[in-house]
Amino acid sequence: MASLLDLLTGFLAAHLPTVPAPTPAPPSSCPSPASPAPLPPPATTPLTSAMVEIPYASLLHPSSSLSPLLASAYGPLGLGILAVSGVPSLSRPRDELLRLAREVSLLPPASLAATVSPDSHFQVGWSRGNEVLQGGEPDWAKGSYYANVLEDVPEPSDEEMGFGDWCGWHSDHGSLTGLVPALYLDRDGNEVPNPDPDAGLYIRGRDGSLIKAVVPPGARDVLLFQIGETAQVHTGGVLQATPHAVKGARGRAAEGVSRETFAVFMEPEFDGDMSLPEGRTIEDVQGGEAVKFLPPSVRTLGSRWKEGMDFGAFSEATFSIFYNVVGEEEE
Ligand SMILES: [Fe+2]
Repeated sequence: MASLLDLLTGFLAAHLPTVPAPTPAPPSSCPSPASPAPLPPPATTPLTSAMVEIPYASLLHPSSSLSPLLASAYGPLGLGILAVSGVPSLSRPRDELLRLAREVSLLPPASLAATVSPDSHFQVGWSRGNEVLQGGEPDWAKGSYYANVLEDVPEPSDEEMGFGDWCGWHSDHGSLTGLVPALYLDRDGNEVPNPDPDAGLYIRGRDGSLIKAVVPPGARDVLLFQIGETAQVHTGGVLQATPHAVKGARGRAAEGVSRETFAVFMEPEFDGDMSLPEGRTIEDVQGGEAVKFLPPSVRTLGSRWKEGMDFGAFSEATFSIFYNVVGEEEE
């Protein structure tokens, strides 16, 4: 799947030179623009949108015809995620892996507690109840084991308009996240269909729209790739990360059902460069409209990114805000 990264590199080589220069400041004699009208609140009625889908076979012989698909998925109007379908030999290891994720979550509490790492902002080992939902409440419904095996246990919750109770609003802060579509297991560990058609991945569009992202059918051989904020910075905003959350299942059919998933976070080394392309500013990277519609738990890039910082410092700035929202608001 390294070829997807090759494709992105080729796509950027073709698109970065076309990034327009920042708009020059108006002459000082220009009158100040009138204050913009207040924006409407973010939409709460979701749209649905199928993800951009790229067949695995087409990655074996990449061509320029894939560039429009990358632009559609990761550009300013995209969902920030695409699906690679028809991945050979994926179905069985996905099934085995996601069942193991459930077993990890069911280990004795003392065994899980021995792996908890507050010093890393819970980015190593077991983490549950350390992240915060939009209302500032701890996210007890999701348990994660880092590195990279994730396990979600749904519990009743009325948080944030019913959203984010399987995973609160956030933007991935690395470069690219690869993940498999979720597997649903009942309390006995048997696979069941998604018990609630409204449950799943939701994306907040840059115009405030709420979009339910639809995974292509045949999820057993699909890999998903979600763009992150580091790629957004490195490309000066050509590629755009999107805030997203996972809405939990409701109703009797959802009782005792857990949602298992697995993600691999691709990112620079901790001392890796986080500079912007020449001529771009952080305001170019994250436009004003997008900032206005960010969920409250997703802080702006401008509040976390600083000139000269490396990826480790950017990660620290991101985690320290994300895991301390409750404390900040209580102060
Ligand atoms: Fe994410």
